[in-house]
Amino acid sequence: MKERNIMLTHEEMPKQWYNILADIKMNPPLGKDGNPIGPDSLAPVFPMNLIEQEVSAERWIDIPEEVLDIYSMWRSTPLIRAYNLEKALDTPAKIYIKNESVSPAGSHKPNTAVAQAYYNKEFGIKKLSTETGAGQWGSALAFATSQFGLECKVFMVRVSFDQKPHRKTLMEAWGAECIPSPSNLTNAGRQILEKYPDTPGSLGIAISEAVEAAVSDQSGETRYSLGSVLNHVMLHQTIIGLETKKQLEKVGDYPDIIIGCAGGGSNFAGLAFPFVQDKINGKNIEIYPVEPAACPTLTKAPFVYDHGDVAEYTPLLAMHSLGHAFIPPPIHSGGLRYHGMAPTVCQLVDEGIITPKSVHQSEAFGAGIQWARTEGTIPAPETNHALAQVIIEAKLAKEEGKEKVILANYSGHGMLDLMAYEKYFSEELTDFELTDEEMKKAEEIFKDYPKPEHIKSK
Ligand SMILES: Cc1ncc(COP(=O)(O)O)c(C=O)c1O
Repeated sequence: MKERNIMLTHEEMPKQWYNILADIKMNPPLGKDGNPIGPDSLAPVFPMNLIEQEVSAERWIDIPEEVLDIYSMWRSTPLIRAYNLEKALDTPAKIYIKNESVSPAGSHKPNTAVAQAYYNKEFGIKKLSTETGAGQWGSALAFATSQFGLECKVFMVRVSFDQKPHRKTLMEAWGAECIPSPSNLTNAGRQILEKYPDTPGSLGIAISEAVEAAVSDQSGETRYSLGSVLNHVMLHQTIIGLETKKQLEKVGDYPDIIIGCAGGGSNFAGLAFPFVQDKINGKNIEIYPVEPAACPTLTKAPFVYDHGDVAEYTPLLAMHSLGHAFIPPPIHSGGLRYHGMAPTVCQLVDEGIITPKSVHQSEAFGAGIQWARTEGTIPAPETNHALAQVIIEAKLAKEEGKEKVILANYSGHGMLDLMAYEKYFSEELTDFELTDEEMKKAEEIFKDYPKPEHIKSK
């Protein structure tokens, strides 16, 4: 019998997160006046203990015992050697897949949801509001808040709300409220509905609604929670890469290529950042965030200052952006339909430390099917983008005759995304390509904003 699932014992589990801000320099977030914002300006939105983490440059941050305890419900997650896929591709490459789909909500998202719920509870907060794209993040936060006895309100992007009705049921099972966005509950939502009554929604709109719901609660007991993009979210997700390093050590391997799909950047960062630290210190690794060609943030959009949401409630962040009013095409990877990207991931792209890739959704679903027919499980549509790149790299390794070690993140399962698979089988999936004209129009919105510097961290 082959060693397929590499696991860690309780004793071997990492007890600290890795903070990449200790190893790279960043453009600061700016207020509307163009000046760097201080931690206090974020206080109505996030609890101060998470704001401190957001700006911390300490390399290692202890994971609280209560968070480790909940992690132990599903962590460590398996590192799988994909022997069957290797055989089907007849590749000399070794393919390792870190399986984050085994969490209660079915993705990597609970890694930060649990941490955020913990820090909010510690700060005395009673209720969290958030947005969700595919519904994975909303269900992760619903699970996490149920563990800590907090209330939870989720604004779910309309198109995903309609495509994935069972995600709402899942959130309700954990006691959360789930509302399609744009909604009539907020000023931001009402303004959009007035202009575009049939809009499929976007993460940028849903973020505006969730932020507004938090800051307008007069009791002061509600805060907002974000499932990607921010520094503290990337920090919490590094548990993925830190476990993986130990798992690979057990079998005496180290990756040549690291791959993760990228929506806001968090599952990619979670796997890759602990290895990025090695690359900064001289290791030779190729590191690829993979995005949908229909929403080409890292591969085509410029590195600029832009808002994280449509109503411009968030500070200006230095990131690659398609423009905060951009409504992405209704592809089936709801979690990859974001106009921006984590500033940490963008900084690494700008410095040439990591190299973004993009694939079309039909190629991604094809890869997901090949995975299902070899390795057995049904991946999330987002995860399929990473698998498509894995297959590209494994074929390249065959052409070059090289025994490359390929490592990728399996960010979630697709058991609640079967409607998308059905569309793939009935050939109803469309590949969208943004024209230069559409991109230019979307980017008009930030043309007068301050410009970030091109910083070299070392
Ligand atoms: C399964 C899955 N993978 C990936 C993503 C993309 O998010 P991120 O780039 O923050 O990992 C999402 C977001 O909802 C998701 O649900």
